[in-house]
Amino acid sequence: MATITMEVEAASSNHRHARLERWVEEMAQMCKPDRVYWCDGSPEEHQAMLQFLILSGIAIPLNAAKRPNSVLVRSDPADVARVEDKTFICSRTREEAGPTNNWEDPAKMKQKLTGLFAGSMAGRTMYVVPYSLGPIGSPAAKIGVEITDSTYVVVSMHIMTRIGSQVLEVLGGSGEFVRGLHSVGAPLGPNQADSTWRCNAENKYICHFPETREIWSYGSGYGGNALLAKKCHALRIASVQARDEGWMAEHMLILKLISPSGQVKYMTGAFPSACGKTNLSMLIPTLPGWKVETIGDDIAWMKIGADGRLYAINPEYGFFGVAPGTSMKSNANAMLSVTRNAIFTNCAMTLDGDVWWEGMTDDKPAKLVDWLRRRWTPDSGRKAAHPNARFTAPASQCPVIAPEWEDPQGVPIDAILFGGRRAGIVPLVTEAFNWQHGTFLGATVSSETTAAITGKVGRLRHDPMAMLPFCGYHMGDYLAHWLKMGALSSASKLPKIFYVNWFRQDKTGKFLWPGYGENSRVLKWIFERCDGKVHAKETPIGRIPEVADIDTSGLDMPAADVEELLSVDVEGWLGELPSIREHLAHFGSHLPEGLNLEVKTLEARLHATKR
Ligand code: OXD
Ligand code: MN
Repeated sequence: MATITMEVEAASSNHRHARLERWVEEMAQMCKPDRVYWCDGSPEEHQAMLQFLILSGIAIPLNAAKRPNSVLVRSDPADVARVEDKTFICSRTREEAGPTNNWEDPAKMKQKLTGLFAGSMAGRTMYVVPYSLGPIGSPAAKIGVEITDSTYVVVSMHIMTRIGSQVLEVLGGSGEFVRGLHSVGAPLGPNQADSTWRCNAENKYICHFPETREIWSYGSGYGGNALLAKKCHALRIASVQARDEGWMAEHMLILKLISPSGQVKYMTGAFPSACGKTNLSMLIPTLPGWKVETIGDDIAWMKIGADGRLYAINPEYGFFGVAPGTSMKSNANAMLSVTRNAIFTNCAMTLDGDVWWEGMTDDKPAKLVDWLRRRWTPDSGRKAAHPNARFTAPASQCPVIAPEWEDPQGVPIDAILFGGRRAGIVPLVTEAFNWQHGTFLGATVSSETTAAITGKVGRLRHDPMAMLPFCGYHMGDYLAHWLKMGALSSASKLPKIFYVNWFRQDKTGKFLWPGYGENSRVLKWIFERCDGKVHAKETPIGRIPEVADIDTSGLDMPAADVEELLSVDVEGWLGELPSIREHLAHFGSHLPEGLNLEVKTLEARLHATKR
């Protein structure tokens, strides 16, 4: 322990935040690492850590001529995704965590975790990573400190979050910060070292203590479980901070849409994991003259500004995107963002030292090494990359990153989009009548599940505001918070709310809408609706475009398909009502009355059209 105390003391003389130093020292006493290292966030530090990962065999350097300064890391097969069944919100009472979260008593969970963390960092370095969510020093930014024993986590945090000494300067001697403790839960014996990804396959716990603003994550090295600044802080803990302080922490992309005449609208969008959020955030419009620029691809923090408008910042600094399905056709900007300085996880490797994943190219390479290090050919009968294989890259490398993406004040939002993967019933686009109706649309987001979480793929689940796995308190109270936020400004200043569904299919199972860059046609309608320039049809479920108002010029698309995409299936919606009611009923007395009212009026409107 002498080493630890000495190094912590050396760090103290620079940082002088007594509470932070005491906490680091306490955690070191519990986890018993060989040494404690305070990250400065410098490029030299990043390079040294990448080099360590390479030399120890955990990372493979990719062919520098093809992908400079980039590595591939293959995880343990038992550690490939977020573990929702092992994710806990340990608020004071079960009631406060609500029906959608796993809950455990905070004292009991701390006791259990203390047992697991005790000695968990033996043989390793304990890294102290101070980070800022949002531009350093921005009035909207929040500070956290992650303690971790994973070098992979540190190099990923270098890319995903603003970290290091500058953050400590802003924190000063008494600033508030969220405390995050992370261990892969695989202590090393004497003379033992890592040569591959380590985790604890049997014991994984991703625990949040909202009252004390703490995160304790044990047993997993996977991004969503281990990069604590992302889902754990920027969504789960931040949603509680936002509730208490009157702002919003949302699972939303932020994009800037520029019209041919140079007018700008900012939009945020919430979609469940792996529904194409990253693609939409950096979409290349097929409509001539239109342009999308990116502000963020996953998380938005929003606050009402002095002018009554809702402003959003992207608290992150990089992208942690799903690789499979990403190609120069589906998302050229993501492909160009990952050409250098990137970390790839669980992708396949080509024989010339590059990465590959399903959907990257039309033709599959003849030979690969798959993510499990096995020889692979197109006839192998299995996927070469894990379906949740990921890329990690600096947001600044995105060719269409908006010049204002780091504006400390954020950007004023004109439209909020919700959406999910739905084969039937849900039209291509629906505009909410008002904020409360929009909150109802968000509250009833439903989608077929994907590979971003462990469990069954293709099941339909309701996922309010795509926040189901990320809300740090009672979801009913969260929905009430949405209504409260709407009451803080006037309707004319608040963003309009829309629901989109790119995934509607015809009776034969064929997608009716081409998606990707063609989604700009829908964004254009939304843009024009924000300016009140285009008409919308009032229907029982919301406002819907006239067929003629969706610009399909240059698209070889039968008018009947557009009609079907914009049709309101009254019987289908009536059939959906019981499951909507059942879903909202889970929130019991916490469900705001406004949303009950929305179901009733929806039902009445649907019946009225039948008369
Ligand atoms: C993500 C997710 O990784 O939502 O962004 O799972
Ligand atoms: Mn996400």
